[in-house]
Amino acid sequence: MAEGSGYGNEGCGYIDGEYVAMSDLRLPVTDLGFQLADMCYDALHVWDGRFFRMDDHLDRWERAVAARRYDTLGHDREDFAEVLHGCVARAGLQKSMVTIVATRGTPDSGHKDLRSCRNRLMAWALPYYSAVSDEETEHGCDIVVAETVRIPPDAVDPTIKNYGRLDFVRAMFEAYDREAHYAVLLDQEGNITEGRGWNIFALTGGRLVSPDRGVLEGITRMTVKGLAERLNIDARFDALKVDALRAADEVFLTSTAGGIIPVNQIDDAPVGDGQPGPVTQRLTRMYWDLHDDPAYTTPVRYELAN
Ligand SMILES: Cc1ncc(COP(=O)(O)O)c(C=O)c1O
Repeated sequence: MAEGSGYGNEGCGYIDGEYVAMSDLRLPVTDLGFQLADMCYDALHVWDGRFFRMDDHLDRWERAVAARRYDTLGHDREDFAEVLHGCVARAGLQKSMVTIVATRGTPDSGHKDLRSCRNRLMAWALPYYSAVSDEETEHGCDIVVAETVRIPPDAVDPTIKNYGRLDFVRAMFEAYDREAHYAVLLDQEGNITEGRGWNIFALTGGRLVSPDRGVLEGITRMTVKGLAERLNIDARFDALKVDALRAADEVFLTSTAGGIIPVNQIDDAPVGDGQPGPVTQRLTRMYWDLHDDPAYTTPVRYELAN
């Protein structure tokens, strides 16, 4: 990553079959990943030297690669896993955000026949970061309900994690213009979807709902549903309307970059009493406790750095 990227110089990248310094991780401007957002990615994290839910991330990643019809230069699941381990091991990180990306690649002429492209695979590991500040993780963040609608799933499948995100960009500027920090988007039928980098949950009268349509099937969302069920909370993926979100007792966001993030304000109104609620806090503790559980974690193969 170029100097001044804001990520510092720590980390390790992988591109075109080689491990490289972050400053050498570059994409040609002719790559259609840049020109058309013709790409897909996945992001997972390492906590205290262990990948969290690596198999689930690899499942989602492999589905995305197949849906985009990338060949990723002959890499299979084992190779993908090795690249991820290799980046973290070489970066020497115990807590890391790890990203794997496939792009369409560069076509052989200005005609841009997609079939002529050599698909490209890259990955990188950076020191762990969250989608929000530490202060927001502890006390809650604000969101607005944007007027910008989410790109319809019939146009771009939101279950394939991608960087085609101008709907989120426009919605974020709506938030900034309203002196807020984050935005949740509706679909064309007025259902709540998600925000840039997170799914959303609403707890009302002891029942937990996260949108079932038009969203990325987040690994954290799936984890939280499982944890809620352990607490005998009725947790489901279902349609969620704006009024129900506004009336909820507790609202939180879920993301690999940050875990469970309480929401303390929607537009100008507080959520509940404006403090992170007890269920949000309980689930947060349970979520981070899972990071020691061998059933959910995979030790990083640090020996790959040698
Ligand atoms: C659009 C979108 N929704 C939801 C999520 C949360 O998914 P996960 O819990 O797998 O990180 C992300 C993660 O980056 C995302 O980009």
